[in-house]
Amino acid sequence: MNELIAILDFGSQYNQLIARRVRELNVYCEIFPFNTDLDALLARKPRGIILSGGPSSVYAPGAPKVEAKLFKAGVPVLGICYGMQLAADVLGGQVKAAPAREYGAAKLRVTCAEKLFEGLPAELEVWNSHGDSVTSLSEEFLPLAATENTSLAAVRHRSLPFYGVQFHPEVAHTPLGGEILSNFLYKICGCEGTWRVADYVEETTASLRDRVGDRGVVCALSGGVDSSVVALLLHRAIGPQLHCIFVDNGVVRKGEAEQVVQTFRDHYHINLKAVDARKRFLDRLKGITDPEEKRIRIGHLFIEIFEEEAKHLKGIEFLAQGTLYPDVIESVSAWGGPTAKIKSHHNVGGLPEKLGFKLVEPLRFMFKDEVRRVGTALGLPDAILWRQPFPGPGLAVRCLGEVTEERLSLLRDADSIVTSEIESAGLSRGLWQYFAALLPVRSVGVMGDERTYQECIAIRCVTSSDGMTADWARLPYDVLARIANRIVNEVKGINRAVYDVSSKPPGTIEWE
Ligand code: XMP
Repeated sequence: MNELIAILDFGSQYNQLIARRVRELNVYCEIFPFNTDLDALLARKPRGIILSGGPSSVYAPGAPKVEAKLFKAGVPVLGICYGMQLAADVLGGQVKAAPAREYGAAKLRVTCAEKLFEGLPAELEVWNSHGDSVTSLSEEFLPLAATENTSLAAVRHRSLPFYGVQFHPEVAHTPLGGEILSNFLYKICGCEGTWRVADYVEETTASLRDRVGDRGVVCALSGGVDSSVVALLLHRAIGPQLHCIFVDNGVVRKGEAEQVVQTFRDHYHINLKAVDARKRFLDRLKGITDPEEKRIRIGHLFIEIFEEEAKHLKGIEFLAQGTLYPDVIESVSAWGGPTAKIKSHHNVGGLPEKLGFKLVEPLRFMFKDEVRRVGTALGLPDAILWRQPFPGPGLAVRCLGEVTEERLSLLRDADSIVTSEIESAGLSRGLWQYFAALLPVRSVGVMGDERTYQECIAIRCVTSSDGMTADWARLPYDVLARIANRIVNEVKGINRAVYDVSSKPPGTIEWE
């Protein structure tokens, strides 16, 4: 049995971040609704309980609360932001709208290091995001740290194992937040840190097996890291009951279709149907230059084809998807907590509703880098693990203007030169994406003594941490020179290469 840290969810958008930090520290954790039956929770013998933040005011009518006995059960409790205000409310303190609402970075001065801040500097950066503040506390509480606005930025109860912080240790903007959480887990809760990603694989495999039973699951495999990890987890859980469908829409990168078939069918022996739909997609895209229209047509045709294929399969009840936590927009609790409103972004939009399948989303609570760790534990090859993000409509949105077989072929060749040069220069891990886009212009050049009038390629290399914002990569000039030279020399039909120096915003990463 794994040691358990229970996170009680009061509706913070950072809940999953808390969970992720705890997992990073090798401790198993689960998120529970704030109103989970306390006796049932304590029966699981958690080593510690973390009360999350949340958007409510503890003094507002109907605010989510916990019973006082939670704090008296002998289990260490860490209250974060709203979680600390709750404890103050229940154990004797006052919470008010803060005279100075605290949002953003603040300097925290540690006044008493006492376990929670042990080994940390006396002054550290923290991130705040609260309008309410604990303004006074009974003598039972010992202040541990202060900010400019409050002497009660962190506290400890003198006789109960309660610690509270008004800031958010779980976010990246609290650079030493990991150490604070580590102190809570190891020095206060006495965790041993026995949980590993391999355990996640075991637990998920078992729960998938439980949920699916002897029924069938269909999975749209794109060869990207998310759908690949989902397929491998399910294959491990239910073997031949898993049916994967890979649709070759003709707008994948060079060698990609072959690689998917080789990896999953030949190497892992997964049931995989590869559908060659290249001609159907190209026909559907004929004459279309509008970016949105391209996306819509590709999305619809994908669903049509997937539906046709899924109909041939017998006994399917589930559709597996590689939805990640960042895809679950407007987070909050999946069980409909205090402010729950959850919107799912479906990578294969519209499929579940249309086909009447139940969804299986084993990565729903994971972040991209955690998925890669799971993939590593499953033995997924590096080429897939570190594959760049690739849009669903594929090369169609990188082939500006009309998408034809000839133009796609130029783009594919140029793109594979960008990829191989970036990778052989050892730059790939530092970049979010690196690719080529074929522009809808021709320009004049000279080759030998001949005038040329040919296509133009844009090289796009960006750094980013999540794809939401991005900057163009400052590539070494000699690498850029080699890429441009090779493209113009080796790809017949392209006589000019340009480097895209737009950041996002105002640009986007993709050109369409
Ligand atoms: P933009 O171009 O909006 O892209 O800056 C942000 C990130 O999303 C990827 N992208 C997509 N991913 N389906 C996807 O699964 C899509 O339709 C899609 N369009 C863009 C893009 O490659 C970048 O990583």
